[in-house]
Amino acid sequence: MAERVVLAYSGGLDTSVGIGWLKDATGKEVVALAVDVGQGGEDMDDIRQRALDCGAVESIVVDAKEEFAADYLMPALKANALYQKRYPLVSALSRPVIARHLALTAKSLGADTVAHGCTGKGNDQVRFEAAIAALAPNLKSVAPVRDLALTRDKAILYAEEHNLPIRQSAKNPYSIDKNVWGRAVETGFLEDPWNAPIEDLYEYTQNPDVLRDADEITITFERGIPVAIDGVSYGPLQIIQQLNALAGKHGVGRIDVVEDRLIGIKSREVYEAPAAMALIAAHEALESLTMERDVNRYKRGVEAEWSNLVYDGLWYSGLKRSLDVFIDDTQRYVSGDIRLKLQGGRAVVTGQQSKTSLYDFDLATYDTGDTFDQSLSKGFIEIWSLPSKISARRDAASL
Ligand code: ARG
Repeated sequence: MAERVVLAYSGGLDTSVGIGWLKDATGKEVVALAVDVGQGGEDMDDIRQRALDCGAVESIVVDAKEEFAADYLMPALKANALYQKRYPLVSALSRPVIARHLALTAKSLGADTVAHGCTGKGNDQVRFEAAIAALAPNLKSVAPVRDLALTRDKAILYAEEHNLPIRQSAKNPYSIDKNVWGRAVETGFLEDPWNAPIEDLYEYTQNPDVLRDADEITITFERGIPVAIDGVSYGPLQIIQQLNALAGKHGVGRIDVVEDRLIGIKSREVYEAPAAMALIAAHEALESLTMERDVNRYKRGVEAEWSNLVYDGLWYSGLKRSLDVFIDDTQRYVSGDIRLKLQGGRAVVTGQQSKTSLYDFDLATYDTGDTFDQSLSKGFIEIWSLPSKISARRDAASL
């Protein structure tokens, strides 16, 4: 049997042309693997057929939506994961699940190489290959667009010469990656950070400046995981899909940033992630209600570290695994209801309740019924500020 390479196939220009390039460059048969992570748009069957029409010996579609939501997005939510405080890791989270299926497929077909369509300038090449290295250290990774220095013009020419059934995607000036956690848009006129985004860029969100009546929804969490909307139970994928529609309608989750790529380039990115941003807002509020102060404070640092690791392609790393254990433990009491008001691009928490709340009305109230003994505060502050007092005396003495 001829040697095989498994290509992560999107159905777009680069990976379609990549099938032929890979065959020419490696002499191996190409198996196309399209992983459905909720990118929507085209029918996965059409994508499957296109890979065959472009010369793949076999074309496989995997529906990884539930797995992606449960095993990748829920941990991200528990970590309130935002890279550089802004980016909910949309693409960074999908690479490890796609890589997992590449490795599984390569193993089951006896392929020794996997391939992806990334360029040499981005984070995604690192994420694919670092994930493959961790999951299947004997597999080789190749990236035709990067390794053969292929340009978009060459790809279009190749598609024309070989009569490949690619739709005229050459006109789209943007580089777009999307899945159920959100959508990333780069390049084109956005490459000048002074250029404001235009309404045309967006697909998951409506214009937040158009006035609409607010929607109020209640999200129920159990141990850090959303389990119901307005009292109706759903699995993680359904919750995310519903919130994309509900929060997307109010323009929630539009993000415009200049971001630091791992490889050292700054890049201008426009994201939209309505469900992700609404869920993180709700989850953080519930943590504030149910978590001890020190745990919460310490976790914020862990969250930043976790987000950096995942951004940098280290999903399957020892440190990330250990941080997950810590994060999971913190979620023990993160159960309850958060009411969100959705309007004008914002998801605002307007109500919070939990059976495992640490909020004590009798301690907090300024009305009658107050059980907090205010006289104790005086002595507490004396001792609390003692180091400051002592060092201030020394500082004054040394002037
Ligand atoms: N900058 C983001 C990241 O590194 C988004 C990448 C999107 N990928 C793409 N091919 N447009 O996670």
